[in-house]
Amino acid sequence: MLKRITVLVSGRGSNLGALVEASRDPRYPAAVTHVVSNKRDAGGLAIARANAIATSVVEHTAHATREAFDAALAAAVDASEPDLVVLAGFMRVLTPAFVARYAGRLLNVHPSLLPAYPGLHTHRRALADGVRLAGCTVHFVTSEVDVGPIVAQAAVPVRDDDDEDSLAARVLAEEHRVLPAAVAWFCAGRIALHGARVRVQDALIPQAALVVPSPAAD
Ligand code: GRF
Repeated sequence: MLKRITVLVSGRGSNLGALVEASRDPRYPAAVTHVVSNKRDAGGLAIARANAIATSVVEHTAHATREAFDAALAAAVDASEPDLVVLAGFMRVLTPAFVARYAGRLLNVHPSLLPAYPGLHTHRRALADGVRLAGCTVHFVTSEVDVGPIVAQAAVPVRDDDDEDSLAARVLAEEHRVLPAAVAWFCAGRIALHGARVRVQDALIPQAALVVPSPAAD
């Protein structure tokens, strides 16, 4: 039985697109069955429609409080009967009640190597700090923003000539690999939570370290 994924988006939806692409593989254990957005004009909704995926719009502007918005959001999510809920560029802070409702089946993709750079403008901040490695994280969502057990991370080198856009593009390409992988592991029952740590059954762990700049290049 394919697991049902509901994806929450606020914008472009390229991570949603990557999930939809991955799920075309007959071996993929899940399908995106519903997309919910807080923005009527989100690109992610167009991607969903183009792939015959059901959509809902729950506008935060139509609700007086965060609690009221989250209750409406939860009603839309519940109606989609998800096995897993994925935040893929969903730009609203969720209430503890919402997070608790989907505890253990709510994943987020974030464009930094958490716990470094939670929040916004991650690439700008990483460049300003002069870090040599950037990357992305897929993690379980807890009530604190961009905190929660980490399922997978991908690191990329920061190049001397990088600007925010070039670094964002390099990280985004990795988001598009790591998110579908993490979702597949979850849906195949290969993820176990041990306190703050996540173990992925039969996962490949590379031996090589990513060293930047690489002494080997001299
Ligand atoms: C991604 O960088 C994601 O990590 C962050 O917001 C961006 C969304 O991009 N949370 P997209 O809408 O998936 O293209």
